[in-house]
Amino acid sequence: MSVWAVLAAAGSGERLGADRPKAFVRLGEQPLLAESLARLDASDWVDAIVVAAPPGWEEPAILLAEELGCGKVSACVTGGATRADSVRLGVAEVPADAAVVLVHDAARPLLDDAVVERVVTALGDGWDGAVPTLPIPDTVKRVDGEQVMETLRRDELRVVQTPQAFVADILRKALSGSDWTDCSAAVEAAGGRVRIVDGDPRLVKVTDAADLDRVTALL
Ligand code: CTP
Ligand code: MG
Repeated sequence: MSVWAVLAAAGSGERLGADRPKAFVRLGEQPLLAESLARLDASDWVDAIVVAAPPGWEEPAILLAEELGCGKVSACVTGGATRADSVRLGVAEVPADAAVVLVHDAARPLLDDAVVERVVTALGDGWDGAVPTLPIPDTVKRVDGEQVMETLRRDELRVVQTPQAFVADILRKALSGSDWTDCSAAVEAAGGRVRIVDGDPRLVKVTDAADLDRVTALL
C-alpha cells in the first residue's frame, strides 16, 4: 500500500505580510517549508511527496528538498490561485496505483509522526478519509449580524487540522467537484465517510506574525 503526501505550500501568506511567500519565511534556521517537508520525508508512513510551490518558487523548493536530503520528493508543481487548485494540481502528480493520499499544509510545520500514523491507519473498514481534530474549549454561537441565533453543542464540534488522509481514488473523484474549503469537505460532499482522530495542539497553523512566534517557541 503506497501513501503519497501532497504538501500545499503555494500560498502567498498575505496575512503574515512578509516579503516572500509564507513557506519561505524563516522559522528558526530554515524556511518554514523545511520543517514539514523533512518530517514527511522521515516518516515511515509516507512513500513519496509532491510539493505545490508558489509560482516562481519551484526552484528554491526543489533545492531545499535536495539540501535536506528529502529523497521522497517526487515532483514539485506550481500551485494554483486557491488552496483547492494547488491540492488538485498536486494530486494530479500522484500515480494511479497510489492507495492513500495525505494532504498537509506547509503552514503547519510541527508535524508529529504520531498524527500521520493516526490518520493513515484510520482508513479502511469503510472509512474514506481521516482528519485530525481538537475539541473546542469555548462555547460557539451561530450569529446573524448582531443577533445570536443559536448556541451550538460543543460536544458536537471540532476544529480540524492537517494532515488529512484519504483513499486515493475517492479523493481524486471528489476534487473534481468545485465548492469546497478543505479536502475533507470535498470528500464529505461526494458522499464519502470521513472519520476523526485526535489532532495535536502543537500542530498550530501559521497565519499571522503572532502564530510564527508561537511556533518558533514550540520548535
Ligand atoms: N495554499 C496553497 N495554494 C494556495 C493557497 C494556499 O498551496 N493558492 C496553502 C498554503 O501554502 C498553506 C495552506 O494552503 O500551507 C493553508 O493556507 P493559508 O494558511 O491560508 O496560507 P496562505 O494562503 O499562504 O495565507 P493567506 O491566506 O494569509 O494569504
Ligand atoms: Mg489563504
